[in-house]
Amino acid sequence: MDGRSRQNPAYRRARHLCVWKCDTSSVLPGPPSNLAHPWGASDTPYDEIGGDDSVRALVENFYDIIEDESPVLRQMLPADTSGSRQKLYEYLSGWLGGPPLYTERRGHPKLRMRHMPFAIGDEEATEWMRCMGKAMEMSGVEDPLSEFLGQKLGDLALHMRNQP
Ligand code: HEM
Repeated sequence: MDGRSRQNPAYRRARHLCVWKCDTSSVLPGPPSNLAHPWGASDTPYDEIGGDDSVRALVENFYDIIEDESPVLRQMLPADTSGSRQKLYEYLSGWLGGPPLYTERRGHPKLRMRHMPFAIGDEEATEWMRCMGKAMEMSGVEDPLSEFLGQKLGDLALHMRNQP
């Protein structure tokens, strides 16, 4: 059996870490839509974005943008960002409802705790979202998925704040 198959018990167990188990009640504000989910027609945001290659491309674009134009975020990261890229890719894979690569390989993310060594306030959270918004655009992520992710990732970015 393919380790990433949805029949794999580890995959199914870890789906509780996905924020949205197809919760169609959490519709975004805006005109009524006949789409199956607020992110689109696919079962999960992971499928909607295009699976593994698309998640990888989004993360590569995101870190390229940080390296090119975001001194605020760049200075928090190691000189070689390949490890940072890999961890965010693994995390987003599971978070979007796909294979829970991060938890399989590294255990519970304890994400807020892992961000404590870095001073994150409004400015850093907003900048993180600016870079992610641009990365989504570069990666061809379109509405309603981009609006959905903008909102949910924005909530998560605000949750990472540990400074006034
Ligand atoms: C709010 C603004 C944010 C800032 C300034 C920030 C900054 C950072 C920094 C500096 C690291 C360490 C990188 C490394 O060790 O290579 C990190 C790690 C990480 N971040 Fe963020 N982050 C933010 C938001 C987020 C959000 C919203 C997510 C989830 C979607 C996220 C997911 C991760 C993950 C998965 C790691 C790796 C954790 C580990 O295993 O060490 N971050 N972040």
